[in-house]
Amino acid sequence: MNNMHTSPPVNNDLNRLFLGAVCDRESDDARLQTAPTENKHITDLVDESENNRVRNYMKKAMQFLILISTITATSALLASGGIDGGGNAMSPVTNEKWKVECSGCHMLYHPGLLPERSWLKMMNGLDKHFGENASLDVATRTEITNFLVANSAGKSTNRRSSRIDQSIPNNVTPLRITETRYFTSKHDEVSPTTFKRKSIGSAANCIACHKGAEKGDFSESQIRIPR
Ligand code: HEC
Ligand code: HEC
Repeated sequence: MNNMHTSPPVNNDLNRLFLGAVCDRESDDARLQTAPTENKHITDLVDESENNRVRNYMKKAMQFLILISTITATSALLASGGIDGGGNAMSPVTNEKWKVECSGCHMLYHPGLLPERSWLKMMNGLDKHFGENASLDVATRTEITNFLVANSAGKSTNRRSSRIDQSIPNNVTPLRITETRYFTSKHDEVSPTTFKRKSIGSAANCIACHKGAEKGDFSESQIRIPR
């Protein structure tokens, strides 16, 4: 009898198990019934992801084309010296008085080779210019000073002038380009004996090796060291 008493729960359990199986089967049926629409949905998804893949591929291809044309345009710009001195090279600036007064004893040094404070100091001490008297009347001196300042290293937007300006500490006012860290770092492979050659004279005679120096052209293709 005791067994009889315990049997119903077992039956119940069995029932529950059975019902559970039926329920599962029912839900399977339900799933099967929804399957066609679900499948259709999946197919749509597949189509959509295929479309996305094509779209992504087109997008990447476009981005690549834009990148390539940007690179081409940029290198063309750099090769041409950039817009208004904004590239690597200094603009070939000039002034008549500067050309006459500052080329008598040495080559013309491009204004972009030194910062404003250097030119001001130099132009205010022309009577003692590296052991020479290079004095000028006030009007001429003012005009040349203005020209040098307007095109000085800190004012020019080209990369070379900016680098020169940045290489000079704020509390230093060099009068020699050849003493700037920029100059020494660019010429550490040129030996001091090379600079002393008769055909060169000194490191300050840029034009002996840089044909375009007076125009501010120091590009590597223009360098030739004379024997
Ligand atoms: C009377 C001759 C004379 C005149 C004119 C003259 N200079 Fe000089 N300049 C010198 C001498 C000498 C040196 C030193 C050269 C050396 O030691 O290699 C020098 C050096 C320089 C240097 C430094 C070069 C370096 O990096 O070592 C600059 C910059 C310079 N002069 C600019 C000018 C400017 C700008 C003018 C016009 C306002 C001018 N000079 C006119 C004689 C002159
Ligand atoms: C004896 C020849 C000689 C003289 C003089 C000389 N240079 Fe140079 N310069 C060179 C050589 C060689 C290089 C290239 C060094 C390298 O690429 O390693 C160079 C590199 C440079 C560069 C860097 C070029 C670049 O695009 O990388 C600048 C700027 C420059 N010189 C400026 C000057 C200036 C300014 C003067 C004068 C004050 C001067 N040089 C005098 C030989 C000379």
